Formats: sequence, C-alpha cells, structure tokens
Amino acid sequence: MITTQNTQSNTSGNTTRGINQNLSSKIAQSPYQAYVYSYPHKTAYRPLNPAISLSKLWEKQDKQSLFLYIHIPFCEMRCGFCNLFTTVSHNEDFVTQYVRTVQRQAQRVKLALGDISFARLAIGGGTPTQLPIQHLETIFNIASETMGANLSEIPISVEVSPETATTDKLKLLRERGVDRISIGVQSFIEKEVLATQRRQTTAQVEAALGRIKEAGFPTLNIDLIYGLPGQNVDTWLQSIRATLRFQPEEIYLYPLYVRPLTGLGRTDKEWDDTRLACYRQGRSLLLSSGYTQVSMRMFQLKKQSNSFSSSSPSSPSSQHSQLSTPNSPLYCCQADGMLGLGCGARSYTDGLHYSNEYAVGSKEIRDILQAYIQTPDESFDYAHYGFKLDADEQRRRFILLSLLSDEGLNYASYFQRYASDVNEDFPELTELFSLNLATQDEQVLRLNETGIERSDTIGAWLFSEKVQQMMDNYELK
Ligand SMILES: C[S@@+](CC[C@H](N)C(=O)[O-])C[C@H]1O[C@@H](n2cnc3c(N)ncnc32)[C@H](O)[C@@H]1O
Ligand code: SF4
Repeated sequence: MITTQNTQSNTSGNTTRGINQNLSSKIAQSPYQAYVYSYPHKTAYRPLNPAISLSKLWEKQDKQSLFLYIHIPFCEMRCGFCNLFTTVSHNEDFVTQYVRTVQRQAQRVKLALGDISFARLAIGGGTPTQLPIQHLETIFNIASETMGANLSEIPISVEVSPETATTDKLKLLRERGVDRISIGVQSFIEKEVLATQRRQTTAQVEAALGRIKEAGFPTLNIDLIYGLPGQNVDTWLQSIRATLRFQPEEIYLYPLYVRPLTGLGRTDKEWDDTRLACYRQGRSLLLSSGYTQVSMRMFQLKKQSNSFSSSSPSSPSSQHSQLSTPNSPLYCCQADGMLGLGCGARSYTDGLHYSNEYAVGSKEIRDILQAYIQTPDESFDYAHYGFKLDADEQRRRFILLSLLSDEGLNYASYFQRYASDVNEDFPELTELFSLNLATQDEQVLRLNETGIERSDTIGAWLFSEKVQQMMDNYELK
C-alpha cells in the first residue's frame, strides 16, 4: 500500500501507520542510498525549545541497566570518507580542557539522574586512543568513579586505530577491563587506503593487530571498507584473507558511502555494481570461513568462548549483535537507555533522543567543540537538541532495528510492547514478501539473503515521512 501520510485509519477504525514510499520503486534504485544504523538519524534532530531537564526526562525510565557511551572526537588524521564527529586540529591544552569538560558533564548528569547502574560501556570516536594515556585513564575514572559503572563486571568496548593502538595504551585498556577492541583497518592494500587520505601502512596495521592479539582481548573487531578508489573484487578478497589470518571474533564489512563534505565523491552504476559484487563475495568468503552474518555489515566468528557466545535474547550477544554505528558502537536497539557523555555522543530515552549539535565540516566541528568546553555546569542539566519519538516513531524504531539484524521482527514481542498487531499497524510489511526480500518463520519476520543486502534501502523505506522530511531539510554543515 502506498500512503502519503504517516498515520491513517483503517476500516476497523484502528490507527495504521503508513510507510511513505512504495518499496519496489526504492528497490529499483541503488542499494546504497543511506547508511541506516539507528533511527531517527541525527540529521532529524533539532533544537529543543524549551530545553528539557534531564532529571524529569529520565524520571520514568528504567535506569538500572544503562549503556554508557563516551565520545572522544579526536583523530590523528581525517580520512576522506569519514563523516563522524571528530577533528584533527587540536592542541594538548584543548584536549585537556575537553577531558575536564567530560568530567564536569558527568558530575552534573549523575546528579540529575540519581540512582543509576550500567550494563555496558563503550568508548568511541573519533579515536579514543588518540588521547594521551593519562587522559585515557581519566576517562575510565569518569566512567567508574563519577558515573559509578562497575568496570570489572560489565562488557567494555573501545575503538582504536592502528597507529594509536600502542602497547602501553592496550595494557591500560586491558587493566581497566576492556574486553572488546574495535580497530579500523579498511584495507590491507596500502594504495587503496592512501587514496582516501588515510595515512596508514600495512606494516603498521599488522604490527597493531599483533599487539592487540598479544594483549589478549576476548573480542577483536576489524572494520573493512569495500568500494574504495582503485579497489576491485580481487583486492577486496585479499584484504579479507589478510584479516582472517588474525581470526578476529568480529568483522564489519562497510560499503563505502560518500556524503557531501567528506572529501570523496562518486555516484555511478558501475560503482554500485562493484560494491554489490564485493559484498556478495566477501560475505561468501566469511560464511565459508566460520563466520555467521548478524546484519548486512556485521559478521561474527561462530566458535566463541567469550561472554558474547550465547544468543539468548537477554544475553550480551543479543545486545552486541544489534546494529552498530561507527560512532556509537554496539548498542542494544530494543532497550532504550543509552547515556552519552562527551561532545557528539547521543543519549536515548524511550521518548527522546538527544545530543549536541551535529556537523561534518571541520570548522563547524571545531566551533561545536569550542562551545562544548565553554558550557556552564548548569547547562549540562538539560537536553538542548534532539528528537522526540511519539508512539509511532517508537514502533518504527523497534521494527527497523529488529528487522535489520538477524534477530528479525518478532510479532509477539511487538504485541507485548505495544499491545497491537504489527501487521495491522504496518500492513505494508507484506511488500517484503511480495518482493521476495523476507521470510516468516514461527512468527518472526526475517530478511532473506536478498533482503539483507538491501538493508539500507529497506531501512530508509521504514522512515516516517516526518523523519524523512527533517533529514531532507537538514542543512549539512
Ligand atoms: C570510529 S572509526 C574506527 C576507529 C578509528 N577511528 C579508525 O578509523 O581506525 C569507525 C569505522 O566506520 C567506518 N566508516 C566511517 N565512515 C565510513 C564511510 N563513509 N563509509 C564506510 N565506512 C565508514 C570505518 O570502517 C571506520 O573504521
Ligand atoms: S575513520 Fe577513524 S581515524 Fe579516520 S577520521 Fe574517521 S574516526 Fe578518524
């Protein structure tokens, strides 16, 4: 059914929630239209007037198993493809002030939220290990002493880059209980990486991976990108084979997305075909090498002896196996309750997602960071910028994030949460069957192989008209 409105009445008088665009017309377009990793996207956030007090906002939220995310927006270089909230132009003094500001923010947020406890911690960026070691230590102290996270009990994930994964920093991470390291490699072919203005040698990558293995983290994740300039299916498979030599517990295969202001630019059918061929062959190679596919991008080694090996719905694995984002790694989509600290971090309650303002251009990022370190203490008691999720948006989020992971959309779980039938609320979901993109098994709707490779299209199709419009109207800075 094609609807042009978000919400309309069906014959039984119930409210049904329309999906904007016919899926078949979207599927006929490029599979690479938007990277759908969370909902709603940050470009749908807007200033909140008036600002919302955090103590009120979190009052009714379950605060006993929150996900703490700390954002470190610094990198040794700005890769040509990257649109994350991060900067290279910083001096030591600025970095010190940044860490002090995270500390100030943490104190106010803790005071506003009161009795909280954390089920997991992720430190992402940017590149957290770009921080000098004493600041990295302060970040862990903020998590444990200020926020009260029990670091020895909870899963902790940290993003690193090859050059900054030094022995002393890895040792600190291990001592502070980090059990998952995620490293951006992108490609083992030097000239492909250099073509994206990422200064990185393969020797550096291999040395870093050696150090990480040596340090003994239970989970190593390696990020690779396909669709890079000069890359073809053969060189792509070479990179995957090189990755497999390190037997990482997880591998992310990212299709290269180029967006305005990120330095690389290309949009043509040939590029789509190359990316699709790389995806298919990369996927086959991983499936035949002992990995299972968790989502379009994420692959997990089957035989794991660490804490992420179980797959029961409440286990860390199922949280772990949800969609992740480059700058907000590994988030359990269905359990809202993410608390973000640092500039660029998002926080999620059921009804409001909030963060700082967003930008990609380097000057704008610097201005936002400057404003962050000048934020008066009392201003941290409020959410100033975000998106309010009404009942319809909350349902969409649930559907979108479950459908795009291997867990699939469980009709009973939907009913339990929302006391209504998902197929009545979103009758358009049947289009997934008619287009041969999904199957239904014991009341769980799952994307099939074709559906998974079209995840980004299907995700964008599920956006509400309102979110789509806000994203379209967003002026990228
Ligand atoms: C925060 S970085 C990982 C850690 C570290 N900063 C690094 O680059 O080594 C997140 C990952 O997102 C992926 N990524 C970022 N922008 C992308 C884009 N435009 N297209 C595809 N992948 C992208 C890259 O694979 C990158 O490793
Ligand atoms: S890919 Fe990683 S190192 Fe490169 S700019 Fe983005 S966050 Fe920084």
